[in-house]
Amino acid sequence: MRRVLFVCLGNICRSPTAEYVFRKIAAEAGHGARFEIESAGTHAFHVGGAADGRSTAAAAKRGYDLSPHTARRVAPDDFERFDHVFAMDGSNLANLRAACPKEHLDRVEPFMKYARSFAETEVPDPYYGEAGFDRVLDLVEDASRGFLAHLAESDLL
Ligand code: 4NP
Repeated sequence: MRRVLFVCLGNICRSPTAEYVFRKIAAEAGHGARFEIESAGTHAFHVGGAADGRSTAAAAKRGYDLSPHTARRVAPDDFERFDHVFAMDGSNLANLRAACPKEHLDRVEPFMKYARSFAETEVPDPYYGEAGFDRVLDLVEDASRGFLAHLAESDLL
């Protein structure tokens, strides 16, 4: 079992999108049962709430259902529980690295490291309209496929 945690700031836009996109892409590749997949936020603003309606609507158009999502904050034991802790942007990455015990720092990575079609290093925050929700989907679909391919190429699937 490979455990994957996606992390953004609020856990209502980018990381829930990545969670459900990666879940579907892994399942469609026949590897759904090999993963435990969750998402969390570095901050608590939206804990207990649903995914942002704009993310849910954009994802639904591509066949991803974000309706089961409930936001939670990153917990100290996430760094023990998860093999991969993926940050959506550089700020999330810095916050995660600061919270992560030294022995698990190798588990914390920028998710866009695994993208193959896009050169972006971050998934931009769409909450205040800096970039679109479709852009978030484009980037996380690419990184999800790339991460799955990386695992397959490394004989880790
Ligand atoms: P996310 O987006 O980190 O992709 O879930 C945000 C959600 C909420 C806020 C900022 C970004 N906020 O400031 O409340």
